[in-house]
Amino acid sequence: MKNTFYITTPIYYPSGKFHIGTAYCEVLTDAIKRYKKSRGYDTFMLTGLDEHGQKVEKVAEKKGLKPQEHVDEMADSAKKLWKLMNIDYDKFIRTTDEYHCKAVQKIVEKFLENGDIYKGKYEGWYCMPCENYFTETQLVDGKCPDCGREVIKMSEDAYFFNMKKYEQWLKDFYAENPDFIVPQSRKNEIFKNFIEPGLEDLCISRNTFDWGIPMPNDPEHVLYVWLDALTNYITALGYGSDDDTLFNKYWPADLHVVGKEIIRFHGIYWPIFLHALGLELPKQIYAHSWVVMKDGKMSKSVGNVIYPEVLIERYGVDATKYYLLRMMSFAQDSMFTPEDFVERFNSDLANDLGNLLNRTIGMMNKYFDGIIPTNSTAKTEFDDSLEQFVKQQITKIEECMDTYHVSNSLVELWAIISRANKYIDETAPWVLAKSEDESDKEKLKSVMFHLAETMRKIAILLTPFMPKTAEEILKQLNIPFSDKKWDLVYCDDFIAEGTKVIEKGQPLFVRLDKDEEIEYIKSSMK
Ligand code: MSP
Repeated sequence: MKNTFYITTPIYYPSGKFHIGTAYCEVLTDAIKRYKKSRGYDTFMLTGLDEHGQKVEKVAEKKGLKPQEHVDEMADSAKKLWKLMNIDYDKFIRTTDEYHCKAVQKIVEKFLENGDIYKGKYEGWYCMPCENYFTETQLVDGKCPDCGREVIKMSEDAYFFNMKKYEQWLKDFYAENPDFIVPQSRKNEIFKNFIEPGLEDLCISRNTFDWGIPMPNDPEHVLYVWLDALTNYITALGYGSDDDTLFNKYWPADLHVVGKEIIRFHGIYWPIFLHALGLELPKQIYAHSWVVMKDGKMSKSVGNVIYPEVLIERYGVDATKYYLLRMMSFAQDSMFTPEDFVERFNSDLANDLGNLLNRTIGMMNKYFDGIIPTNSTAKTEFDDSLEQFVKQQITKIEECMDTYHVSNSLVELWAIISRANKYIDETAPWVLAKSEDESDKEKLKSVMFHLAETMRKIAILLTPFMPKTAEEILKQLNIPFSDKKWDLVYCDDFIAEGTKVIEKGQPLFVRLDKDEEIEYIKSSMK
């Protein structure tokens, strides 16, 4: 069985500072990667920048920089942000990297040899910000169907990729692989809008600007940004270069994580390009939805943009990650509100999780001088019921993560945290501690043992989403940390005899002043 897991993010346009929408995409991919890694897969996560195209050229010009200088700056700041966000990527590709440019030219040569590309004239409605042509029928109220902005009629000599040639193949492929795109609703959309009406050939070159990879046979033309961009998923692994070791090991990709508006490119053109190259197709594409604001999409002109640094610097990286992963539903756009952020921070993190650890450490010190008791024979029905509940939740979490329902997996994980808090109330260790009865003393040992084990399991389960918090919990419990060992959640008696927890527990998350913080977040929107 293939034990590798290759996962990719989209490569982002370096046209401006990344907001929490972009950050969500990265954090989501990171969480899935970390989950697979902890389950023992040999993982590889790719991210990077999509640096060519007219839009990038224009942004650089505005800043008085050469395009290369601009993208160099942007690549540095993207890497800095992903470091701050503790993203565990394995490779950062830039489409201006020489190896990528050369590989893309080889790919185009292959298409030319196969007769997949022809020269023609392109006329259509062009959306400058999206760098995308649309046919008359694709426009919505005469505007760009993707971003709603003005389009202009353009005509130019251009090279085309013969998509029509592969239309039937694509339909057959989807008939055999109905789950290639998840959620289904996204697949249905591209079927209805682009596949069923019949594929249009794709214009793959431009001669109206220079910032791109030249067509190998006709350097007057530079490659359309999407052919350049999509192929990053294979060139990053060395396809088309001298060393294709990674490619042989990791391709086909297990999962491309992309935003819903770029599913057309990934669900139509990308499979066709790969098929035309005689390569295997990725296993699955997950088209996630958008982080939206009360007043719609985040936009600088509306002044409702939230940057991840604002949240991270004040509330910490794990709280920011938790919120993004928890608030975003699997298939629907989800709304970021400062009120909801503060509410979740206080209730889920400070109260539920933070208090559970605090109570566990506090009672361990109070009743057993900090030493976690070994499994007692005086197991009660509460202990059994807690153990059973945790088992059942672990299965649910795994099911959710295996189908990329990340938010739901956090819901299932928080059910364990609530259950453990309830367990403390049910067993009332403070009553058992006061009792003179020997059997109550044994029961108390059992309760504290079960609490420590549950807390340990929670830490492991948290690892893909909040790795630093997971580490901190285990540090306070004085249990060795390893992010690769998901399997340790199946063990009910793991903690070494004589393990002594920290003397004075540190709060994981300090409760926020609601009004003050809501105001703070609101005032930091730009
Ligand atoms: N460069 C292309 C992708 C090429 S992949 C071969 C691109 N770049 S982008 O910078 O415009 O967008 C990158 C990703 O960020 C997209 O998947 C997009 O959906 C995501 N997001 C941008 N704004 C977003 C939100 N508000 N919410 C969630 N994701 C969002 O498209």
